[in-house]
Amino acid sequence: MADLLVFGSGGQVGSHLMRLAAEGALHVEGPARPDADLDRPETIAAAIAASKAPVVVNAAAWTDVPGAERDEAAAIRANAEAPAVMAQACARASKVLIHISTDFVFDGEKTTPYVESDPVAPLNAYGRGKAAGERAVLETYGRALVVRTSWVFSAQGRNFVTAIRAAGDRPRLDVVEDEIGLPTPADDLAGFLLEAALALRDVPAGDPRFGLLHAPGGGAPVSRAEFARMILTSVGSSAEVVPVTAASRNDPVRRPANAVLHDGRLQRLWGRSLPDWRLGLARTLAELEEWGQ
Ligand SMILES: NC(=O)c1ccc[n+]([C@@H]2O[C@H](COP(=O)([O-])OP(=O)(O)OC[C@H]3O[C@@H](n4cnc5c(N)ncnc54)[C@H](OP(=O)(O)O)[C@@H]3O)[C@@H](O)[C@H]2O)c1
Repeated sequence: MADLLVFGSGGQVGSHLMRLAAEGALHVEGPARPDADLDRPETIAAAIAASKAPVVVNAAAWTDVPGAERDEAAAIRANAEAPAVMAQACARASKVLIHISTDFVFDGEKTTPYVESDPVAPLNAYGRGKAAGERAVLETYGRALVVRTSWVFSAQGRNFVTAIRAAGDRPRLDVVEDEIGLPTPADDLAGFLLEAALALRDVPAGDPRFGLLHAPGGGAPVSRAEFARMILTSVGSSAEVVPVTAASRNDPVRRPANAVLHDGRLQRLWGRSLPDWRLGLARTLAELEEWGQ
């Protein structure tokens, strides 16, 4: 019998979840996109109904943030309507649902880290879709855990770490200094999701561990510019990081200036934070070096 059904098994978080679960000798199903397509919710419902796994993890999402501005309806379909269908299907089949959300549900105006009870006020289309998705999941089903995280990176795929590293041969890079957040290594987040899946599989609704939870990388917050400097220094690049303001970039996507999620609830309910993200950064850069990328 399968232990886990994972949507988005090829993504940054999903692929680490598949790997960690396999290392733990767990049986994981990770259906390919045609069999679990967020654009065709009936495939999602069918995949859940067909699975014997007691826990479903949704690591799939429309993650193209600028693209969401151009096609908000499609982003909402993937990030809000499909998760709602997941929650309904999990309720019918009595499976736990673990769904991932984002710091982009906030407007970034707060001057201290965001806690779970802070009101959402997304600044962009991606954030609006994700906010609608987490609300739909939580309103639909009591055995759901929605895990908000931020600034996810890994050695695979395109993310801030791989993008800055790839640009390290340029003489200078303009990087935003007035956005701060907690970077999150995808493998550390996957480790927590696996722990949660195993702990919650037989737990009834009403347990305080269901609901909303912030799980950002552990350690100290950092600005985008400082994060870029750390990456470049680690790979021996002499590129100069020129700090610029977000407003100066004419980016059509507005992003929260303060993306820092507070993980106090994670500490209280699960007895831990995620590991310091700087350890994950060193591990990720070493992997990229090893793979010759
Ligand atoms: N990346 C970040 O900085 C960040 C920050 C905060 C929260 N999050 C959240 O964390 C979660 C995981 O993000 P990630 O960075 O691992 O994402 P990712 O690497 O972009 O992976 C997304 C996954 O979703 C799948 N997917 C996309 N559209 C789909 C569709 N229409 N039908 C089925 N599958 C589809 C992709 O499949 P293919 O492999 O076929 O493309 C991929 O496996 C998401 O919920 C995201 O919103 C991410």
